[in-house]
Amino acid sequence: MTDPFGRTIDYLRISVTDRCNERCLYCMPEGYKGWAQKADHLSADQIVDIAAAAARIGFRKFRLTGGEPLIRADFLKIAQGIGALPGLHSLGVSTNGLLLAPMAADLARAGVRAVNVSLDALDPEAYRKLTGGDFAKVRAGIEAALAEGLMVKLNCVLLRGINEDQYRPLIRFAADHGTPLRFIELMPLSSTDVLTEANFLSVFELRARLHAESLLEPLADYRPGHGPARYWRDQATGAYLGFIGAITTGDFCANCNKLRLTADGKIRPCLGRHGELDLKTVLAAGSDLGELLAQAIAQKPEDHEFTQNYQPARPMTAIGG
Ligand code: 5AD
Ligand code: SF4
Repeated sequence: MTDPFGRTIDYLRISVTDRCNERCLYCMPEGYKGWAQKADHLSADQIVDIAAAAARIGFRKFRLTGGEPLIRADFLKIAQGIGALPGLHSLGVSTNGLLLAPMAADLARAGVRAVNVSLDALDPEAYRKLTGGDFAKVRAGIEAALAEGLMVKLNCVLLRGINEDQYRPLIRFAADHGTPLRFIELMPLSSTDVLTEANFLSVFELRARLHAESLLEPLADYRPGHGPARYWRDQATGAYLGFIGAITTGDFCANCNKLRLTADGKIRPCLGRHGELDLKTVLAAGSDLGELLAQAIAQKPEDHEFTQNYQPARPMTAIGG
């Protein structure tokens, strides 16, 4: 299916829960109350039904995300259901990696092919301060996923003066493990104290710094997973470094290929705009899910509103990062 701007939309990102077992500073820091209300999540069957309807109208790529998707007790049921859809090209999971080690084999068996692991620091003390989590578990998770033959990508949100000093160790880790590492610019997705100009570090600045330290070779045609990152190869370590400049690179939306399904059953045409369509009522009425998905595609805006003083109304965890 094509949207009004000629982009092929064949990728559905599904948030299976807005809860998380970590507390990232920029997402849901310690004391976060965003989900004081009772969970109103879609059931595993509802999620698979929606994915199946999406597959029927041409969606080929699916990603399960959160919150932290792996904390859902019926996660494998969801993954298996989507993993078995006809015409599926790829099924990925975005995770903080804490529960990945014990689940990697089951994920591979369920049909998951790729995992994106958030990794904002390599030093265990720094990791704990940023996320509240245990780096040793995440490391074991990354290694277990690689051992299962899953494609692993690492995601890092660098904040000036907070985890800025971690990029070298992260690059070395990425090179040692043969995993691409993507640096993502901080986006106004959650109303936390760290969302300030002072903490923001642009991909341009980071790339200039890296380039001054050791040459970066541009990889114009390298697009693993067809994501929004542009890649360079770090000559010193051989690491593949991706840069997602959602705020400062004007072309972030040009190749957008996705819709998002929130944990509570809303279709979100754009991460950086508030508009949503309610799927739950369509589900309850037994009406055509594909029609609503097609409507959402028709409503996709040309670009996000992040640079127009966008104020987050719902945290990223609810939308499906
Ligand atoms: N800005 C940028 N990236 C974010 N993520 C979560 N919140 C934000 C934010 N405010 C990242 C996570 C994860 C990916 C799916 O999105 O670190 O790696
Ligand atoms: Fe959890 Fe991911 Fe948010 Fe961190 S960024 S608190 S891991 S959902």
